[in-house]
Amino acid sequence: VGYASRKKPVRVAVTGAAGQISYSLLFRIASGEMLGEDQPVILHLLEQPEALKALEGVVMELEDCAFPLLRGVVQTSDLAEAFKSVKYALLVGAKPRTKGMERGDLLRDNAKIFSAQGKALNDHADKSCLTLVVGNPANTNALIAASNAPDLAPENFSAMTRLDHNRALSQLSAKLSIGVEEIKNMAIFGNHSATQYPDVSQTGLTLDDQWTKATFVPNVQNRGAEIIKFRGSSSAASAADSALKHMHDWALGSEEIVSMAIPSDGSYNVAKGLYVSYPVKCHGQGKYTVVDDWKLNDYAKQKIDLSIKELQDEKKAVGELLKSPIDKRQ
Ligand code: NAD
Ligand code: LMR
Repeated sequence: VGYASRKKPVRVAVTGAAGQISYSLLFRIASGEMLGEDQPVILHLLEQPEALKALEGVVMELEDCAFPLLRGVVQTSDLAEAFKSVKYALLVGAKPRTKGMERGDLLRDNAKIFSAQGKALNDHADKSCLTLVVGNPANTNALIAASNAPDLAPENFSAMTRLDHNRALSQLSAKLSIGVEEIKNMAIFGNHSATQYPDVSQTGLTLDDQWTKATFVPNVQNRGAEIIKFRGSSSAASAADSALKHMHDWALGSEEIVSMAIPSDGSYNVAKGLYVSYPVKCHGQGKYTVVDDWKLNDYAKQKIDLSIKELQDEKKAVGELLKSPIDKRQ
């Protein structure tokens, strides 16, 4: 593999390419960790005009790694060029929250970015493009992007809750002194926000209910804020790691159940038209199915309802940016 790979390069767009997350992400995409060690890539890097100089520095570093799989880099602040013929898009570029804010507080600042990018993806990306939204509030930004892309399938957009998923695995592993790989069937339901619900009921693990409700769930829900408190800025390397794993599994398939925010399809009594985190099985090439036989107890259902209510409120708040309702296209 490596340089000898005869596969045709695929184009991968990353927005916010000079930002913190991208600095941990681009090098790993270029090394083959996302799409496989036999898949050459051409990176399309989008930045604001004022960050193009910093981006040039990042690209110099990419060059200096001499990655055999990196067959080209496009640096631009032009949306059409950024998304031209791309098969994968990672929408990272947006303002991060700072101490004391909830992710939803970013809606006003970030929402417009995703309507413009949804339109541009619609007009310029490959029709099968898989788009992951990382910029917050990720679920509603994914809805905005998808609803501005009438020619692309809403199922080909998703928002990232893999970081929450991995945070939950890590908490359980530490509590029970077992390997993360031993924990199966854990899932994040709802919004990537403090209302999300990490459900452990199907893991088969013996856990103290009091610990689960009073410690585990709030720890996972508030981990992003906790990182900001300690680091002074929001999670970056762990977010990049999750974005990579999310795209890897979506593109190539996953053995395990993973968490992804995808268009609600009526499962678990959630009306269509929202991007909601569910337990998902990825089958490769962008195909996935929601695991729909998860047994949720009344406590879990109540918590998830709250998160869905929050997503509905966010959707109302961005009403004018929603152009082509996704529920009519699913
Ligand atoms: P950052 O500020 O370090 O970088 C963001 C970059 O995006 C900047 O370089 C900025 O110039 C660029 N940018 C802003 N608007 C843009 C636009 N319209 N087009 C192209 N580029 C644009 O921030 P970061 O730490 O990399 O975080 C990025 C986003 O990811 C934030 O919204 C953050 O809240 C979110 N995030 C999400 C998760 C998750 O789990 N879903 C995890 C961590 C961070
Ligand atoms: C996270 O979960 O770490 C990110 O969404 C960043 C944040 O604002 O919490």
